[in-house]
Amino acid sequence: MAKLEARGITKYFEHESHRLQALGGVNLKVESGDFVCLVGPSGCGKSTFLRIVAGLEKPDGGQILFDGRPVTETGPTRIMVFQEGALFPWLTVRDNVEFGLKVSGIPREKRAEVSERYLDMMQLTKFAGSYTHQLSTGMKQRVAIARALVMDPDVLLMDEPFAALDAQTKDLLLVETQLIWARTKKTIMFVTHNVAEAAVLGTKVAVFSNRPSVVKREIPNDFPRPRVPDDKDLIDFQHEILQELRPEVRKGGGAGASGASKDDADAEGTVAGEEEKKKKKKKKKGGTQ
Ligand SMILES: Nc1ncnc2c1ncn2[C@@H]1O[C@H](COP(=O)(O)OP(=O)(O)OP(=O)(O)O)[C@@H](O)[C@H]1O
Ligand SMILES: [Mg+2]
Repeated sequence: MAKLEARGITKYFEHESHRLQALGGVNLKVESGDFVCLVGPSGCGKSTFLRIVAGLEKPDGGQILFDGRPVTETGPTRIMVFQEGALFPWLTVRDNVEFGLKVSGIPREKRAEVSERYLDMMQLTKFAGSYTHQLSTGMKQRVAIARALVMDPDVLLMDEPFAALDAQTKDLLLVETQLIWARTKKTIMFVTHNVAEAAVLGTKVAVFSNRPSVVKREIPNDFPRPRVPDDKDLIDFQHEILQELRPEVRKGGGAGASGASKDDADAEGTVAGEEEKKKKKKKKKGGTQ
């Protein structure tokens, strides 16, 4: 039985006095331990879908099944990590990480033991007593991930968690995320605009179509790990994702709320950059032979 299954999820919104169908019947099966990356044009409904899986929003049609049982509300089995981290500025790093445990009534000693482990895993031990304004964006994101992990959710839902990070921090977190996934065996659903990120992280990539969105194609990825963002062997895989994604972005034709060009720029930029590097390397090699 799938850990999570979306069956025919539909969702409508009111938009400037007309009805906009965001999700057009999303079907997706996620097995236990899968790391599924969701890519799709801007405004196609990826965040909406993730919120529905988390139980934060209700679908208009269809069902989310968790271990075969319908999901109707939020629960500790499915925890969301948002792009901006959403930490409490009045709490220290340790207290932010322990927050969910405290709310769940876990005793202080046990909380300290669990938070210690995850602070160490995210290399935050030295900053346990700091407040979030004293941290870099990358560190804040690590606190947000640690805060979700301490709850030991079966499924971790991540909505563009690395979008605001600089390239160097992002590369580090891409490696760390793979290690954490391997160590904890969590089931992860991860939304990203970046095809390189999807290729590095995913056990499969689900490509969403333009609105009303459906899962257009699921592409399995069994490249050996650990994978790094500039892995040359992953370029063909990135192309495969782009081939599915490009026509969907074009169909949007700028109608997407936050602009379709963002996807194209991000996606194309990654692959084009890699190809450029490849060409230069070849040229250099050729020159010295
Ligand atoms: N609360 C809401 N009220 C009205 N429309 C909404 C609401 N939430 C989302 N929408 C619309 O639904 C569509 C899907 O939005 P969503 O944020 O899920 O897309 P997305 O794929 O996550 O986009 P992006 O890649 O830009 O983050 C968009 O057209 C958006 O304008
Ligand atoms: Mg979104």
